[in-house]
Amino acid sequence: MKKANMIIDKEYKIAEVDERVYGSFIEHLGRAVYGGIYEAGHPEADEQGFRTDVLSLVKELQVPIVRYPGGNMVSAYNWEDGVGPKEDRPNRLELAWRTIETNDFGTNEFADWAQKAGTEVMMAINLGTRGVDAARNFIEYCNHPGGTYWSDLRKKHGYEKPHNIKTWCLGNEMDGPWQVGQKTPVEYGRIAKETAKAMRLVDPDIELVSCGSSNSSMPTFPEWEAVTLDHTYEEADYVSLHQYFGNRDNDSQNYLANTMELERFIKTVTSICDYIKAKKRSKKTMMLSFDEWNVWYHSNENDEKMEPWQIAPPQLEDVYNFEDALLVGGILITFLKNADRVKMACMAQLVNVIAPIMTDNMGSAWKQTIYYPYMHTSVFGRGTSLQPVVVSPKFDTKDFTDVPYIDSAVVYNEENEEVTVFTLNRHLEEDILVNINVSGFEDYRIVEHIVLENDDLKAVNTSQNQAVQPHKNGQSELKDGRIEAKINHTSWNVIRLKK
Ligand code: AHR
Repeated sequence: MKKANMIIDKEYKIAEVDERVYGSFIEHLGRAVYGGIYEAGHPEADEQGFRTDVLSLVKELQVPIVRYPGGNMVSAYNWEDGVGPKEDRPNRLELAWRTIETNDFGTNEFADWAQKAGTEVMMAINLGTRGVDAARNFIEYCNHPGGTYWSDLRKKHGYEKPHNIKTWCLGNEMDGPWQVGQKTPVEYGRIAKETAKAMRLVDPDIELVSCGSSNSSMPTFPEWEAVTLDHTYEEADYVSLHQYFGNRDNDSQNYLANTMELERFIKTVTSICDYIKAKKRSKKTMMLSFDEWNVWYHSNENDEKMEPWQIAPPQLEDVYNFEDALLVGGILITFLKNADRVKMACMAQLVNVIAPIMTDNMGSAWKQTIYYPYMHTSVFGRGTSLQPVVVSPKFDTKDFTDVPYIDSAVVYNEENEEVTVFTLNRHLEEDILVNINVSGFEDYRIVEHIVLENDDLKAVNTSQNQAVQPHKNGQSELKDGRIEAKINHTSWNVIRLKK
């Protein structure tokens, strides 16, 4: 059997994990809102039409923050359409996804839903077709206590107390030619800076995210970050990163190595932030908000055939398989290893649209394969991210070299006296015996070793059949300060220790 070694020590601290790294995203797209989180008339809908079966699955994930309402959709969205009496709300052509938006659900409903889900709102504003004026009115509507036109309108709409939304995204993917109102980096930098200034005048306590590149393959990456941050550096607190992955050529070994690209992307953006910091002699360190990430490719062909101008059609409904769950685990490991700079991240998205949770209209809700690594990290990955020293056999693929089979992140929760080791074995056939030195954690014992594995990399979960589910029969033993863990081929592992 192949072997690997790992050392874990309390002193090898990367940073405190910001729980918002386990965020997610709900866009007015496909059935994310309508038929997803909201479906009036569904047998399990509450008095506001929120699906309680979906709410329970969201709560199990312990999602700390949810981005809303887009995505591409936000770049032509009039927030005013989605507030006030429902009978007065207009149907609009939704240009990003070419559907009809009924506006039956809007900002206030989302704030209520977020409260019920026990999550915070990350609000995106429209910097495609709109700008400073709409944004300052919107934040006044959401966050100002009262006594002014927009805050009193909110009260008139039944919301006496402000929503106090703290986190705001300055537009979405403004570098993308697919965006309504795409901008050059200078155009974006200017409008984002001026909008940020006005928003902060309304509410100085907010945090702002400056738009980064739509992905690391954009022709304007990384120049986009360098130019836009030159304008927004002092106003923004975070720069955004987005990245989606797919196993398009069915090369699973190469697919699972994609975390190498992710790591490179994070490091490049970090360097640019630090370059601008140095250039401006700034005291502030810019943090990263990886506010869209996931696997997205299974549904592409179907979506191309979609008839336009439907209301909430099934769009981007990727049915995830087991290997997707492994990559998702690897992505979350990568965020934890970069916990000093990646402070927020949103799995895109949460329900039905490239999502861990699927529903049938008027029917059931279930967990996709990717639900599990997301849940495990969110629930057990709170505390301090420790840097494990891993010596693992490696492999090369079409796109990557020197990829370790064993990839790990470790979170130490000092308060609860718990240590969790998240480990992926990317070997397609061979199990690996991992020897983990935990001698610094005296009197700790193994509580459980959870494993997600399946003989079929392409196995999926459906409403009828949950073929991919974790079990707790992982083989690991702790003796004399060392754990001997058998990490099966193509498996996701969560080894939990407690004092
Ligand atoms: O999440 C789906 C889409 O991906 C979002 O609307 C957009 O921001 C990105 O291109």
